Amino acid sequence: MNGRFITLEGGEGCGKSTQAKLLSSYLQSKGIETVLSKEPGGTPEGLVLRQLLVTGDKDKFDAVTECLLYYADRRNHLTKVVWPAMEQGKWVISDRYADSTEAYQYYGYDKRIDYNTLQNMYKIVAGDFKPDLTLILDMPPEVGMKRSFAKAANMENKELRFENRQMEFHNNLRRGFLEIAKREPNRCVVVNADTDIETLHKQIVAVVAERFGI
Ligand SMILES: Nc1ncnc2c1ncn2[C@@H]1O[C@H](COP(=O)(O)OP(=O)(O)O)[C@@H](O)[C@H]1O
Ligand SMILES: [Mg+2]
Repeated sequence: MNGRFITLEGGEGCGKSTQAKLLSSYLQSKGIETVLSKEPGGTPEGLVLRQLLVTGDKDKFDAVTECLLYYADRRNHLTKVVWPAMEQGKWVISDRYADSTEAYQYYGYDKRIDYNTLQNMYKIVAGDFKPDLTLILDMPPEVGMKRSFAKAANMENKELRFENRQMEFHNNLRRGFLEIAKREPNRCVVVNADTDIETLHKQIVAVVAERFGI
């Protein structure tokens, strides 16, 4: 596959959606064809799964069920969006991918699911495929949560299933993302997201430019 796959990861309200759009525009300005996508819900079918996953009672699924739903969405996203676009040489930017499942469903829930079970799900769905680059947007969870609640106040359909968890969950999840970055330093780059939109965009562009020589 000639394209590239870049994922943005991090907790609630850290700026993933904002930065994914800005990065996509930047790459386009460099003459690169991009596809801006997201998980969960990067496909029409995935949007139905997203609805199940991001709204309602925080304890409505057990850990394995929840991971299987995320992985069903992921498989559909890879086969229908990510891989076809990459075959055509396009760069796919995804607002969340598998590290979010690991951070939320494994680290966030205090390791309620067996780690190997989760890794096996990844293998079934994606084989050896991995993102070319993962940007981990890091910030104190309190800051991101404030932004998320402010944003949700203006939305009709409030996607607050995870925001409604205790601070401990969000701290675990931040630690989880940092652990993942430590374990896979070639794929993951941690950026300080506790800054203004433009400064963060510049940090991200610097990482992408260095990584891909553009
Ligand atoms: N660097 C920033 N500083 C202040 N507010 C921001 C920043 N980045 C994004 N926001 C705002 O915070 C909210 C959450 O940002 P968003 O990009 O949707 O985060 P995420 O996708 O990670 O949840 C949005 O209302 C957005 O406009
Ligand atoms: Mg978002």
